[in-house]
Amino acid sequence: MRYSMKGNGPLIGDVYINGAKNAALGIIPAAIMSDDTVRIDNLPDVEDVRVLLEAVEGIGVSVNRIDRHSVTINGSGVHTIRVDNEHIKKIRAGYYLLGALLGKYHHAEVHYPGGCSIGERKIDQHLKGFRALGAKVIEDKDMVIVEAEELHGGHIYFDVVSVGATINIMLAAALAKGNTIIENAAKEPHIVDVANMLNKMGAAIRGAGTDVIKIKGVEKLKKVEYSVIPDQIETGTFMMAAAVTRGDIMIHGIIPQHMDAVSSKLIEMGCIVTEYDEAIRVVCRGPLRPCNVKTLPYPGFPTDMQPQICVALAQAGGQGTVTESIFEDRFKYVSELRKMGAKIKVEGGNVAHIEGVEKLKGADLAAPDLRAGAALVLAGLSAEGKTTVDGIEYIMRGYEDFDKKLRSIGAKIRIETDSK
Ligand code: UD1
Repeated sequence: MRYSMKGNGPLIGDVYINGAKNAALGIIPAAIMSDDTVRIDNLPDVEDVRVLLEAVEGIGVSVNRIDRHSVTINGSGVHTIRVDNEHIKKIRAGYYLLGALLGKYHHAEVHYPGGCSIGERKIDQHLKGFRALGAKVIEDKDMVIVEAEELHGGHIYFDVVSVGATINIMLAAALAKGNTIIENAAKEPHIVDVANMLNKMGAAIRGAGTDVIKIKGVEKLKKVEYSVIPDQIETGTFMMAAAVTRGDIMIHGIIPQHMDAVSSKLIEMGCIVTEYDEAIRVVCRGPLRPCNVKTLPYPGFPTDMQPQICVALAQAGGQGTVTESIFEDRFKYVSELRKMGAKIKVEGGNVAHIEGVEKLKGADLAAPDLRAGAALVLAGLSAEGKTTVDGIEYIMRGYEDFDKKLRSIGAKIRIETDSK
């Protein structure tokens, strides 16, 4: 399947943001740690979430869809701690079932995580954390097995700042015996969201959102009704859509503070960004100015917005740079942008030097991964002529109704399923 689109001038109008994919992917495993029924609202209807729900159903969790964005989950019927279905291999967040099942049952066997191919993406910090809680770790072909006779608190200092490892250890330690301290923890909004949900379930987690998280293990987790925070990256992607099409987009249902790093770069590039209580408006009238961007853990500029800002810089008046400091292989999409006439040189694998051009030209492109796929769509919507972006399955893993939302603000984009 591919998107087919034509640059059609400024995108103007209102867009509503769904729940955060990466928060939802931590919240579903948290929910199965209780034997009570947990209700989750504002779940985004995206492929990664569907896969994780299917995977937990496969081990005996009862999942009841209330509507498109709400489910109830009851984890009392888990009959196996081995998660090895066809689809779980494709997503990254399967690794959270290690922490959740280890915490609850002291034993988990989960397929090695997949996800976008943007770097080596080791899980050694997750495993180091599980060991510190008393677990034995076995890596058996494609499976990761963690098992503990007694799961106890531990003191963990992460060597790298890892979103996944921070959430995973929080999950397991929530039900471990005694106190856990995580140092050099990641601070992303979805870490705070998972901690808030666990605390509402009766966990005792302090410090989420700072780099030291303290967890006092509790005996069990109880029922809760919880609503997932809005998606920071979906928001950023639409902010960037306003910039690249010289548009005016009002983005609703968001938390503006989560967008500070993106907003400040857009302001530097000449856009007007106005914050409201739960909305943000991005207006871009004149030409874009170049800037230098470096991806960093939160509150720095998010790596998941790196391809999108690169598309904006490819059309700015002058030279900019983008330095990727989280993942080693996140510039695969640059060869696609070059087909559109973009002038980008990647140096040492992690620095892109970008010389803005007046206008990109339509081309036939392929999405190499989720966020780069969304960025190529932004490029197509700001280019002259027709662009196709193949491999939109990647984009559907993380964006709900992406094409529909873009059409609602004036984009000419549709899905093509036939062969060319
Ligand atoms: C999560 C997000 C992803 C986002 C990334 C960074 C999910 C499902 N995915 O991915 O969208 O791009 O955070 O914000 O939430 N590392 C290690 N050892 C480890 C763990 C990580 O060396 O055990 C390294 C990674 O290779 C990477 C860096 O640490 O270079 C950050 O990775 P991490 O924050 O863990 O990202 P993910 O959890 O994979």
